[in-house]
Amino acid sequence: MKSAILIESNKPLVIADIDLPKKIDFGQVLVRVCYSGLCGAQINEIEAVKGKDKFLPHLLGHEGSGVVEKIGDGVTTVKPGDHVVLHWRKSSGMQSFTPKYSWNGKQVNAGWVTTFNEKTVVSENRLTVIPKDFSLRTAALFGCVITSGFGAVNNDAKVKIGQSVLIFGIGGMGLSIACAASLVSAFPIVGVDIHKDKIEMGKEFGLTHGIESNSSNIKEKIKDIFGNKGPDIIFETTGNSKVMEQAYETTPNDGKTIFVGVPDKKISIYSLPLAFDKILEVSHGGNSIPDKDIPRYIRLIKNKKINLEKLITHEFDLSEINKAIDLFRSGKAGRIILRISKEN
Ligand SMILES: NC(=O)c1ccc[n+]([C@@H]2O[C@H](COP(=O)([O-])OP(=O)(O)OC[C@H]3O[C@@H](n4cnc5c(N)ncnc54)[C@H](O)[C@@H]3O)[C@@H](O)[C@H]2O)c1
Ligand SMILES: [Zn+2]
Repeated sequence: MKSAILIESNKPLVIADIDLPKKIDFGQVLVRVCYSGLCGAQINEIEAVKGKDKFLPHLLGHEGSGVVEKIGDGVTTVKPGDHVVLHWRKSSGMQSFTPKYSWNGKQVNAGWVTTFNEKTVVSENRLTVIPKDFSLRTAALFGCVITSGFGAVNNDAKVKIGQSVLIFGIGGMGLSIACAASLVSAFPIVGVDIHKDKIEMGKEFGLTHGIESNSSNIKEKIKDIFGNKGPDIIFETTGNSKVMEQAYETTPNDGKTIFVGVPDKKISIYSLPLAFDKILEVSHGGNSIPDKDIPRYIRLIKNKKINLEKLITHEFDLSEINKAIDLFRSGKAGRIILRISKEN
């Protein structure tokens, strides 16, 4: 079965045929993956930003959709034939041991969920069943970008109607956050990005204003829009340590900073205001509970209250994954979708 394997940090992924584990164990589910999103988290994994990678060689990918083929003992929440979202946050069902694949007689490691492989062995609690008439292509985005972005707004920041929002980085996460902020009637919703096109795209997702981050007078531009009080809530999604510091500093002493981006380096902040009214939160998938959240979002999409399919700007086959990664790194894409295997 075709897979993309990370063999060495900071190197292109290797596309190879690998063997599935011999047995689908207790709490495990075999899924044929149809679509996978590409998230900043995989770029971080490839670049080992969290430190030396102890699991090499390993599989990757944490937002996907597919069809259940087989279930292990004890599994009760999904059955063969079900359409499912593959997500990295925990949900109902059991947590299994992680699977071990093999390639030319060598072990290939994997976490509880991977999506850059045609067939995947997933822990039951990383799957959520969706209706069969819902687009599997859009459903892949529930694995992370939508649930994390919407959760960051609802659960981490708890944005209230009419609060003002500033978002650094208008990639997949920034767009998802803009959409959720608009759903809760935040105003204004301002996006900062180095790419003008991303800001334009953000306007389709609810941005009311945009600032190009290479403009020299960015502080003044923020002040022009938010006045002396500044934004109520700032989301940081670039993961650039300097931008994270800037996001925290720009937050007023009674405001909230939500760090969504994963830092590329250590950051330095003045912590005293946190002892008073300033709040700093680090988002962990927006504290989303996928099997509770996904049905709500599907209802909105089905009733045309939101269109999240337009988050997808590019599509590639699994065999073209390194091309997709290069495009992702350019910062020019919205969400990139990988076609992993045919829907039927
Ligand atoms: N906390 C979580 O649970 C969680 C969940 C998903 C992703 N993430 C992290 O969020 C970050 C973003 O992920 P993504 O998938 O949206 O990535 P992305 O590449 O799609 O988006 C990043 C955006 O930031 C912009 N950008 C980069 N440098 C900038 C700068 N200096 N100033 C302004 N804009 C800049 C890029 O142009 C791009 O539009 C990553 O670090 C990822 O690991 C965290
Ligand atoms: Zn992700």
